[in-house]
Amino acid sequence: MSEKVISDYNGYDYKADFWEGADREYEDQADRMAIRKLLPKRMDKFADIGGGYGRLAGEYLRRAHKIYIFDYSKTELQQAKEIYGDKIETKAGDIYKLPFRDDELDGLMMVRVTHHLKELPKAIEELYRVLKPGGVAVIEVANKRTLPKMARYVTGKSKVNPFDKKVANYKEISKDGFYNYHPKYVEEIFAKTGFKREKVLSVSNFRSKTLKKIFKTNNLVKMENTAQQVLAPVRFAPSIYYKLRKPEK
Ligand SMILES: C[S@@+](CC[C@H](N)C(=O)[O-])C[C@H]1O[C@@H](n2cnc3c(N)ncnc32)[C@H](O)[C@@H]1O
Repeated sequence: MSEKVISDYNGYDYKADFWEGADREYEDQADRMAIRKLLPKRMDKFADIGGGYGRLAGEYLRRAHKIYIFDYSKTELQQAKEIYGDKIETKAGDIYKLPFRDDELDGLMMVRVTHHLKELPKAIEELYRVLKPGGVAVIEVANKRTLPKMARYVTGKSKVNPFDKKVANYKEISKDGFYNYHPKYVEEIFAKTGFKREKVLSVSNFRSKTLKKIFKTNNLVKMENTAQQVLAPVRFAPSIYYKLRKPEK
């Protein structure tokens, strides 16, 4: 395993344990509606980077001619193949060395992966390299500047300062960290890499057990649909989605 791969999903049933066995219908729907709003309608070659078992494949299967699901975990990729068969091609490897040529893809997305990345700038450079000029990357970023994290910091419950641009590492379970980022920090990386930012969405705005109990998932999903655009300027949600474009040469 590369030193930089810090989260190994081999042998872990992410689908059953994280999604099906937990009350995460709202979060799943929130991701899906953001992707629907951001991904181009027609692409030739597309890759879901860190795509796992292809949870979100329903949102891109009809949008691209050739679809790759790329992941480090062979367990995840095997599940993806079992579910989607010939509709997708799986590729295994490390995000820091993507198995695609320069300028090969028309589109890509990377969702719920940044929190595992020890070296985000290097990963973003790789994504940029494999995209065609004019191609689109939809990238979800784990936000350190959320309202609950601010509350925990100002009341002294957490030492992680959500207001500074330093990368936050919330856990150290045998080097398995959960990195969270300040929106300004990631936006500077995107700009430095060369990406043009086309759209931002605030996603999973109501990720809270209490809110789920009070409002019920279907109502939260409706509220989320409006909130994604309206709350984007404040960037307080746990997930911030970016639609980025590699400029034409
Ligand atoms: C939380 S899961 C997200 C899966 C999928 N994108 C989704 O939203 O359902 C994170 C995925 O990133 C993959 N991953 C983490 N670090 C990686 C790396 N350095 N290279 C390739 N894949 C990686 C894991 O194997 C895992 O499948």
